[in-house]
Amino acid sequence: VTVEADVDKSKRISDKLIGVFFEDINYAADGGLYAELLQNRGFEYSRKDRREWNSTTAWTIDTRHSPHEIKIDTLNPLHPNNPHHVVLESGQTLVNEGFDGIAIKQGDKYDFSMFAKAEKPGRIFVKLIDDKGNAVSNEAIIKVNAKHWKKYASVLTARQTVTNAKLQVAVSSSSSSSSSSSSSSSLPDKHIGGADGPTAIYVSDVSSSRKSKAGWEVRCDLFSLFPQKTFKNRKNGLRADLAQAIADLSPRFVRFPGGCVAHGNGIENIYRWKESIGRLEERKPDFNLWGYHQTRGLGYFEYFQFCEDIGAEPLPVLAAGVPCQNSREGKNGLAGQQGGIPLEEMEAYIQDILDLIEWANGDKSTRWGKLRAQAGHPEPFHLKYIGIGNEDLISEVFKERFEMIFNAIKEKHPEITVVGTTGPFYEGSDYEEGWRFAAELGVPMVDEHYYVSPAWMIYNADFYDKYDRNKPKVYLGEYAAHLPGRPNNLETALAEALHLCNVERNGDVVMMASYAPLLAKEGHTQWNPDLIYFNNTEVKPTVGYWVQKLFGNNAGEEYIPARVEMATDNAKVRARFAHSIVRDAATGDYIVKLVNMLPVEITVAFRNFDFGDLPVEKTVLTGDPSDKTAKPATVKEKIQNNNVVLPAYSFTVLRLSKHLPISDIST
Ligand code: AHR
Repeated sequence: VTVEADVDKSKRISDKLIGVFFEDINYAADGGLYAELLQNRGFEYSRKDRREWNSTTAWTIDTRHSPHEIKIDTLNPLHPNNPHHVVLESGQTLVNEGFDGIAIKQGDKYDFSMFAKAEKPGRIFVKLIDDKGNAVSNEAIIKVNAKHWKKYASVLTARQTVTNAKLQVAVSSSSSSSSSSSSSSSLPDKHIGGADGPTAIYVSDVSSSRKSKAGWEVRCDLFSLFPQKTFKNRKNGLRADLAQAIADLSPRFVRFPGGCVAHGNGIENIYRWKESIGRLEERKPDFNLWGYHQTRGLGYFEYFQFCEDIGAEPLPVLAAGVPCQNSREGKNGLAGQQGGIPLEEMEAYIQDILDLIEWANGDKSTRWGKLRAQAGHPEPFHLKYIGIGNEDLISEVFKERFEMIFNAIKEKHPEITVVGTTGPFYEGSDYEEGWRFAAELGVPMVDEHYYVSPAWMIYNADFYDKYDRNKPKVYLGEYAAHLPGRPNNLETALAEALHLCNVERNGDVVMMASYAPLLAKEGHTQWNPDLIYFNNTEVKPTVGYWVQKLFGNNAGEEYIPARVEMATDNAKVRARFAHSIVRDAATGDYIVKLVNMLPVEITVAFRNFDFGDLPVEKTVLTGDPSDKTAKPATVKEKIQNNNVVLPAYSFTVLRLSKHLPISDIST
């Protein structure tokens, strides 16, 4: 193969090309990136999340103690958005199993907190136990001394490293008379919500003789246990190892919170950003359409904070006023009425979107900017992009609402780039219609999605070459190579690398690209393949992860085209080679990427591109196509005669540090 660089035709490409798409799928948020260790901490699980779930899921009463049932009440709740709480009695011991157990590390500290109230003062003993009931942490004594909801906090230190600890909350056998009660503001006594589970005992009347004979009853809610070591040590933060694995990709943007999660299953399930900010007890949990629960503890503030922490642009995606499939009632209503947010409610919905811009970018004197400042971020988040819609049906219902939102943002915030959407890329979808509609409306960028075979990526190298440059720019918001059985292996990873070389060449029109989905917890996976698998203690990057990392770490803003000659006319053979040369403005480095999907080694001879006399950084990812564990290896190597040898089935990245400026390249 000969690659002849054409310096004169070098062009600017997007400096935001490689990013990530975070969706709360596969337990990516609760039980995943969000570092909270307790499951169902606020007793808000219900059969809406999963048929067999209820307020007591993940909680048990230690059967050595009595009474055995877990009482749940909705009277005078901590917050109307979190109606359920537990009613505990003297001698009861409540245990939370965490998400597949609680993994703790000897010597590490964990922030424990809870809300409680009781008519009389009393004590609660909290500790971590192993599967035999032995203590594996110190015991914190919480003196409950308020008749109204009050937050209590303590620190537990792990005495052992255990992967399946549990949190034990034991109520003292009687009330104590020593403490005086303090009070916080009270809410009117009323029941909110209702009984919704087969095993929980729901208390219907607080004045009934349900109180323990021993005389002490305490109401508790929103238990929480967080490692103190979170990513960047943020409170209510992210799991350090998982967040670091994402940061290591050097993503230029983070799209969140979905995917399907953003537009929801039915109107009621549309992700409302305002319900995900503020104090944890104020946030509104909801069912997750992937079959579990969203506490929204990982909410918009945390997403924006994470973006800032890793130097990525935030790209929130909000529903275009329509839920998934434009299905008003959600999955069960699919056969029924289609629709979106009622038109008379659209003004308020649009105002919510405008408020998000003010919340992110407004100063402290603005209503929403003030809330952000109060949450601990006085400086603006510098939001530049907003996604509207997620691979929706491009129906009249969608179009009408999208246009209203788009026009409102354009008028009030012309500085914001709106990223529109189109149907998924397959025969018979609304893909073409979505693009036509967006072009007609003048939407600056459109989010398109495709999950395709490696062969599609191999044989559609010119997909964006032939793209009409007058159309909106592209955000390739979801893509992955899928094989039967859905593995993430070297074959899929190389196909993605090959495709990304083609995308990079078209970085003047494809502005952003994100593999999907990002995270998957082992044993809780609704979708395969994913980029990063994990369990409570390990992070398991896939082969595809290394491709994303190599592109993210080796991005450039200048693309140097090259003419390729191969010693064969066979299109099928030619299609299995791809290259890309870019220059990184910050370092002045040139980066050469080369993909060989052929079963044989090939030599690439460079013309008009001099690797120089010094060793270059060379990273190679190679192996058997079915290999699921291949990892890249980096060496410093001098390139002899500007010839680079590519192993069979390989992705090679060559980085020429502080290379001569392009105009000085010898020919
Ligand atoms: O990435 C998984 C899902 O695929 C997303 O939620 C959705 O947008 C797409 O269908």
